[in-house]
Amino acid sequence: MEKIVAFAKRRGFAYPGSAIYGGFANSYTYGPYGVELKKNIKDLWWKTFVQDREDVVGIDGDIILHPKAWQASGHLENFNDQMVDCKNCRARLRADHIVEEQAKVDCEGMSDKEVTALIKEHDIQCPKCGKKEFTDVRKFNMMFSTQMAKTAEADSDDGMAYLRPETAQAIFLEFKNVVDTMRVKLPFGIGQTGKAFRNEITPGNFIFRRLEFEQMEIEYFIEEKDWEKIFAEWQKDMKDWCTLIGLDSKKLHDYEHPQEKLSHYSKRTIDIEYDFPFGKKELYGLAYRTDFDLAQHEEHSKQKLRIHDEESGQKILPHVIEPTWGLDRSVLAVMCDGYTEEKLEDGTERTVLKIAPIIAPVKVAVLPLMKKDGLPEKAKEVFEAMKVFGNCEFDISGTVGKRYRRQDEIGTPVCITVDYDTLEDGTITVRDRDTMTQERVKIEDLISTLQKKYF
Ligand code: GAP
Repeated sequence: MEKIVAFAKRRGFAYPGSAIYGGFANSYTYGPYGVELKKNIKDLWWKTFVQDREDVVGIDGDIILHPKAWQASGHLENFNDQMVDCKNCRARLRADHIVEEQAKVDCEGMSDKEVTALIKEHDIQCPKCGKKEFTDVRKFNMMFSTQMAKTAEADSDDGMAYLRPETAQAIFLEFKNVVDTMRVKLPFGIGQTGKAFRNEITPGNFIFRRLEFEQMEIEYFIEEKDWEKIFAEWQKDMKDWCTLIGLDSKKLHDYEHPQEKLSHYSKRTIDIEYDFPFGKKELYGLAYRTDFDLAQHEEHSKQKLRIHDEESGQKILPHVIEPTWGLDRSVLAVMCDGYTEEKLEDGTERTVLKIAPIIAPVKVAVLPLMKKDGLPEKAKEVFEAMKVFGNCEFDISGTVGKRYRRQDEIGTPVCITVDYDTLEDGTITVRDRDTMTQERVKIEDLISTLQKKYF
């Protein structure tokens, strides 16, 4: 993991945030290559699950919703972690995590008092300083709150509002608008991507657990009787997505949440886990949310959120299957999966990011062999033409070997070299990142060749 973090900084994928002010805990900025990679994953997700599907439409809701939404959704009451402070070093810790790690006892469903007792009984130590002096365990709501100027809409005495901890709720709030304005029929989905915020007690592992992160979510509205079939279909679609972004299927695992560990809204949840360098951890989630959210919003808003069911002629409240993807975790998994250090036959080494061409931050790099004799000018022409594939680079500095290495490191699938033969016969060298094999291609065949092989 240290290698990945150092690599991400060195090659402009992600920098520790606010570094000029000494850094700011758990804050990261995606650099020029990181933002391309992240955007490519997000755009591919939107195309795959919203644009290419006739049964899904998209929305873009606000980060700050009506405060009552969080009361209705259960987040105000239930979106809590159990927290404890070390009295010696003042570290703020997840109480359930330290008990699970040190005493191998699962604290799920236990009261704060019970976990406090376990900490004493098992002689739990602070993982930071080793001391055993803790405060009592207490609940900590993970929603970030913020203060609004007093408005009637806030409908709250103190003007308290919340940054959304999941993108899902705006979808439920706009469900009726979508039904009334689009010709949607069950089963259908509403998708959304965007930032979510969680006041995690122990964020960490680079961009894996952050305080602000991006989600890509679909609330898929169904008839209750179909939930098992549609749950299985989404499970397959999520697996196919992992293949599409090039993740190694051997590193992916399903984790079925036991009944007693389900979130307050879920009747069945499966996590897709990935073998990150720090262990097997949640990458994505799939939940059957029943009609919990729509029913709660009906009750709290006093608005009818039912839709007409053609079969029964009745108004029904749809049930929901929710596939959810973390964007930052996707970026991290792609980087961990692709990062490779190779020893070459000539004894040299190279670092290569073996990622799927469709999400690569740079699609094609064009390299003139020399800085003279009209080669840069010819290469610029080729470079302009390559922009049909997306973000491309024109690199003229250093030996060609060094330029190849630079592109290998950032995962550019193909490099094109313009040399003296190009001026003679109109052919260029196309070099493959993974195999390092080279072929000569006529400039006029370049786009179709690359389309066939890479994009
Ligand atoms: N609407 C359902 C929901 O929010 P979740 O499992 O809590 O479910 C969905 O979150 C996804 O969001 C996770 O599978 C993960 O990829 C990502 N995620 C959750 N918390 C995160 C955090 N603190 N930092 C980065 N990504 C996170």
